[in-house]
Amino acid sequence: MAFEDLKQQHAAMWGAGPFERVAHTLHDMHELMIDSVEARPDDVWLDIGCGTGELAFLATRTGATIHGTDISLVMIETARRQAEERGHDLVFETADCEALPYDDATYDVVTSSVGVIFAPDHRQVASELARVLRPEGKLALTAWTTEGTVGEFFQLLGRYSPPPVAGAGVSIDWGQEAYCEALLGDAFELTFSHHDVPWVGESAEDLWNEMAEAFGPIVVLLRSLDDEQKAALREEMIELFGRLQTESGVVMPRPFLLVRGTRKAPQP
Ligand SMILES: C[S@@+](CC[C@H](N)C(=O)[O-])C[C@H]1O[C@@H](n2cnc3c(N)ncnc32)[C@H](O)[C@@H]1O
Repeated sequence: MAFEDLKQQHAAMWGAGPFERVAHTLHDMHELMIDSVEARPDDVWLDIGCGTGELAFLATRTGATIHGTDISLVMIETARRQAEERGHDLVFETADCEALPYDDATYDVVTSSVGVIFAPDHRQVASELARVLRPEGKLALTAWTTEGTVGEFFQLLGRYSPPPVAGAGVSIDWGQEAYCEALLGDAFELTFSHHDVPWVGESAEDLWNEMAEAFGPIVVLLRSLDDEQKAALREEMIELFGRLQTESGVVMPRPFLLVRGTRKAPQP
């Protein structure tokens, strides 16, 4: 499959559920990223793969001018609606992070919260991140890592999913420091840190039901399965989540890598 077709599939997939019900579970990741870029009120900031706009809304407290872009029109429409409801005057527009419609060195700050990692051409993504940031500009991006139970979760989904598209980059590769260094190290001074933003449900059933209703990739996966496969996946997930039961509910760890970068001056 051509990458352009794959990206159109991605856009439809991410828009297949009400992602605003998931985005708030990433709140602590968004806050960490906002603090990490130390933005100033006169900064111009691009949030890429902005989804329903949660990071952008929180980032307004810095006083910076914030733009959000995402490949999914459904996400952008939801972000615009939520901005209006919450009284934020922000610009949200559709764009593919492999071909950003902005001039070189336009932005002082670029963030992407588990966003650009899903585009298939990782080298092209890295090149676009470097291109739109001005020298000394700040980058923060996050990527899932796979240690512990979340690795089992990804593997379980993988067993029920179609095979990956040949040649397409794998999102969790961005969760490795050496991989990010190889892609971004020429253009950025990088630092790395590891964190967790657990997804909490009242019970194993509740957590699975929420994913099955609100998380686009799982909504689309379920549509592709017959009833027997759907029931088997549900059973395996509930068994996995059941092992994560605590006194305060089911707590699924979601470990992630925070990549912070400062744009180096381009070489003459
Ligand atoms: C897990 S969601 C994260 C959304 C948001 N950053 C947040 O933290 O709430 C991943 C987002 O990346 C977007 N995305 C995937 N591929 C993209 C691409 N090629 N260009 C721009 N956005 C993309 C999806 O549409 C989706 O909104």
